[in-house]
Amino acid sequence: MALKWWQKTVVYQVYPKSFMDTTGSGQGDIRGITEKLDYLKTLGVGAVWLTPVYRSPMVDNGYDIADYKSIDPSYGTMKDMENLIAEAKDRNIRIVMDLVYNHTSDQHAWFRESRKSRDNAKSDWYIWRDAKEDGAPPTNWRSIFGGSAWTWCEERQQYYLHTFASQQPDLNWENPQVRQALYDAANFWLEKGVGGFRIDAIVYIKKPKELLDGVPDGGDDMVNIHTMTANTPGILDFLREFKEKVFAGHDIFTVAEANGVGPEDLKHWVGENGIFDMLFEFSHTCLEFPEGEIWYKAEGYSPRLIPRLKACLSASQAATASDGWYPIFFENHDQPRCVRHFFPDEADPGAAAKAMAMTLFTLRGTPFVYQGQELGMDNVAWDSIEDYDDISSHGQYELAIQSGCSPEKAIRAVHRYSRDNARTPMQWDRGRQAGFTSGTPWLPVHEDYAMCCVEAEAQEETSVLSFYRRLSHLRREGNAAEVLQGGSYRELLPEREDIFAFCRKLRGRETFTFVNFTGKTADYDKELLEGAELLLGSMENACKGTLRPYEAVCYYRESETEVRSDENCRQ
Ligand code: NOJ
Repeated sequence: MALKWWQKTVVYQVYPKSFMDTTGSGQGDIRGITEKLDYLKTLGVGAVWLTPVYRSPMVDNGYDIADYKSIDPSYGTMKDMENLIAEAKDRNIRIVMDLVYNHTSDQHAWFRESRKSRDNAKSDWYIWRDAKEDGAPPTNWRSIFGGSAWTWCEERQQYYLHTFASQQPDLNWENPQVRQALYDAANFWLEKGVGGFRIDAIVYIKKPKELLDGVPDGGDDMVNIHTMTANTPGILDFLREFKEKVFAGHDIFTVAEANGVGPEDLKHWVGENGIFDMLFEFSHTCLEFPEGEIWYKAEGYSPRLIPRLKACLSASQAATASDGWYPIFFENHDQPRCVRHFFPDEADPGAAAKAMAMTLFTLRGTPFVYQGQELGMDNVAWDSIEDYDDISSHGQYELAIQSGCSPEKAIRAVHRYSRDNARTPMQWDRGRQAGFTSGTPWLPVHEDYAMCCVEAEAQEETSVLSFYRRLSHLRREGNAAEVLQGGSYRELLPEREDIFAFCRKLRGRETFTFVNFTGKTADYDKELLEGAELLLGSMENACKGTLRPYEAVCYYRESETEVRSDENCRQ
């Protein structure tokens, strides 16, 4: 079947607050994104996903929306947004908006009304419940950012539910008026010409009929709300309606954040009979959290992660072999930088970044690049929890301390997993504040910016940025492009604990990717590559059969007879 535009392109994720500031406010803005469209074009980007830019009190940097149909003044105006969509379109880039539909801000007019009384017109637009007899919250659920998932409201003398922060009350999707209001907002953006949607935290929209206590899983007598509400049966009915009233019939793509939807459920969610075009699932980014995402309990990096990473990636490739499609991603605004996530501390970040890039661009699926990933940007490690802005870092730190961890252990976990790792300003040049702002940036610029920035890397043939540009080109043009886009996937050397290797194949054309995830030289049988030519290597002078530490290579082979017979068939 012919591939759609979004299966052949590269998607770039922009975190607007940290991308480019044109006013000196210290925060990025929409005009800054427009200014950098030509840069994005050099990466072969065909769609840009913006994390939320709507009006918001910014308790969770925009994931707390106060009005779905307006732009936050710190980002600019609706005119700026329309201009961005138009300028992007001129460059064949589509703008993809983030729909945050599990919850709103507590400052949204809907919630302000809902909280006033038990009988106003929006009284059941959110999830309200009475206290337990002793006045305690209705259940022992812990919100994803820490603390109870229930907050008391004096006016109504009731608790309201929030999967995330208390300033992010959950909407009541059982109410058809709520659903219609959300569909209207999405349609408003479709009329503005957006090219798709990323749909936030969608697995939480349906709550169980009865809200019951769960078995505690931390040091605080609470249970993670995810365990109690994610993917509640009946959710697909809501989603089918969502598709019908919004997405159906538009030439856009949708990608849902669907934590916990495993390969076995995939067919209901994406593909021929599914709802979305793609979904983000996180099995490969949560490898260090076998018991749920509690940072202080994480296993930390160990070589044991590599076989698990390979298994997760191969499982997701298998799940979409005949139907459905995945986004391929190793970073986003909630994840640490991948050069630390999947590699030991001593790994050279440049080599690690290229190894990950090779994996990203040669697997089957649409590559999603997160801002700065193409430069090999690295994590930060600030001294005190007070230096961190990210709300979840504070929640996780508190939970660690409450559970008896020392402050040193608690801050180490924050260093490793804080979302601020990915949110430091984009590094454009060697000048003041890395060219991000003429003012004081809202988060400090990473100290490595003079070496790791667009200006330095654009001039350097062997830089991470140049490598990304080459990979993106290979995936879009030339003999290997079709294979890399649509070819089948077969894992090679599955027993190896150091090398991730796989083959892609389409009509007589094959690519072979080999990535060494360790700091040791790794040999493999070079016969596997007989007759194949090097397409791209992450280091100079690649040698068939041997990978240097963190080296990644991609080879190409064509079987003339198969290619010719296919061409004859197609004529
Ligand atoms: C997932 C988003 O990616 C994250 O940044 C946000 O904090 C939560 N959903 C809540 O909307």
